[in-house]
Amino acid sequence: EPKTSSIKDFIIICYVLGTTWTQEIVDLLLHNGDAKACMRAPTVQRIPFLEIQAPPPIPSGLELLGSMKPPRVIKTHLPIQLVPEGFWKNKCKVIYVARNAKDNLVSYYHFDRMNLTQPEPGPWDEYIHKFMRGKLSWGSWYDHVKGYWQEREKRNILYLFFEDLKEDPRREVERIMRYMDLSVSDDVIDKIVQLTSFKVMKDNPMANYTFLPKAVFDHSISAFMRKGEVGDWTNHFTPAQSQMFDEDYARQMADVDIPFRTSI
Ligand SMILES: *[C@@H]1O[C@H](CO)[C@@H](O)[C@H](O)[C@H]1NC(C)=O
Ligand SMILES: *[C@@H]1O[C@H](CO)[C@@H](O)[C@H](O)[C@H]1NC(C)=O
Repeated sequence: EPKTSSIKDFIIICYVLGTTWTQEIVDLLLHNGDAKACMRAPTVQRIPFLEIQAPPPIPSGLELLGSMKPPRVIKTHLPIQLVPEGFWKNKCKVIYVARNAKDNLVSYYHFDRMNLTQPEPGPWDEYIHKFMRGKLSWGSWYDHVKGYWQEREKRNILYLFFEDLKEDPRREVERIMRYMDLSVSDDVIDKIVQLTSFKVMKDNPMANYTFLPKAVFDHSISAFMRKGEVGDWTNHFTPAQSQMFDEDYARQMADVDIPFRTSI
């Protein structure tokens, strides 16, 4: 049993799309790769979603948090200036998952089609502009990824890239493990990599969000676990849209050099 004083919460953050995968990796690491233990409840009950205020069956993030003891795993999409000071004061372990802007935009668009409590995404061409202007829930992607990037060293944030996870999941699971000050065997790492593959998670009823009613998430419009690939943006952006987006991107990201990759 770890000493109470050393127990910290783990926080998983991203700009709207991409926490589910890391949540499962972190939960499995905390349970030494025990698949059954991690199927004890749906994702939304195992890992409180800090800012959520939704009708049942989605529990309010704060209520759920209050009913759990550290080490808790907490999910949030809040930009850095809005997360509670306690995250830093209590030296919580904070994992940020960033994904390249174009794939993130595509993923968000399909999510807005199937999350029926989100505003309608509207036409694709207009959606691109909404994304560029930061007119979507949780604000600007550009400010979000930059905010955590600029603070990552000072605040000891583990800044991960979705593309790296796709490229070499084993390497990234090991990075997460080390950051969490855990040590699990090679066999357990292999098991976690397998259990968190897209295919396995898509069929895991405790992770694929079919536990929410159809009035909330309608998977017949677009599955919550849709493709999980890098580079799907090429199937959505026309060459003209891509060029226009890239020009704006260069302006909005001129003050940082975050090594995003749009293909692997
Ligand atoms: C669905 O959209 C609503 C409205 O923006 C949001 O509050 C909620 O967090 C989304 N649901 C999930 C589970 O991500
Ligand atoms: C979710 O998991 C269940 C159980 O394995 C499976 O039958 C279903 O097809 C999955 N649904 C989606 C939309 O991924």
